[in-house]
Amino acid sequence: KKLAVFVSGGGSNFRSIHEACINGFVHGEIAVLVTNKGDCGGAVYARENGIQVLQFPSKKGEPDGLSTSDLVTALRNAEIDFVILAGYLKLIPLQLIQAYPRSILNIHPSLLPAFGGKGYYGMKVHKAVIASGARYSGPTIHFVDEHYDTGRILAQSIVPVLATDTAEELAARVLKEEHKLYVDVTAALCEERIVWRDDGVPLIQSKE
Ligand code: GRF
Repeated sequence: KKLAVFVSGGGSNFRSIHEACINGFVHGEIAVLVTNKGDCGGAVYARENGIQVLQFPSKKGEPDGLSTSDLVTALRNAEIDFVILAGYLKLIPLQLIQAYPRSILNIHPSLLPAFGGKGYYGMKVHKAVIASGARYSGPTIHFVDEHYDTGRILAQSIVPVLATDTAEELAARVLKEEHKLYVDVTAALCEERIVWRDDGVPLIQSKE
């Protein structure tokens, strides 16, 4: 399968998925990297590894950016099967969601539906988790709809929140789990091991 990964930052999830594609754990190829920040760590890594970089959305004064229609055309031309959001901070337009039904995933660093939605990003998530007194946190991978963090939940894993945790310490513990979970889920996606329950809940079938 062919994947497009969207990033806005350092791209550590992107790198771990890329490595899993190279070593064969994921039966897929990252053909396109989409970013709203052409100089972010993820974009630099993509160029170093010969992955095509597309700028989206377009910004004033930056002629390189694509419109939504042009992005959809570019993804189709690259024969992209699935879109993987990995720390991409912009909302995904409805036109792209409709072009890739049940094919766009996002990762969020809390146990959704808690601590999600607009405003919950980066360290803010982990600070809110610590302030709430919650004893567990962890990443959620979900399908993407037209709102922030509300699409159908596909996978989660848990880490403890320690009494002495700073937001940075909790973030690091969650991020380690993100890398494992996203690689596993992307492997399942590429092997068509995702099934949809009648009530619309997606499930991952384990390997035979
Ligand atoms: C991760 O914590 C992810 O959950 C969130 O943004 C962060 C991206 O980290 N959506 P990285 O760019 O993959 O290192």
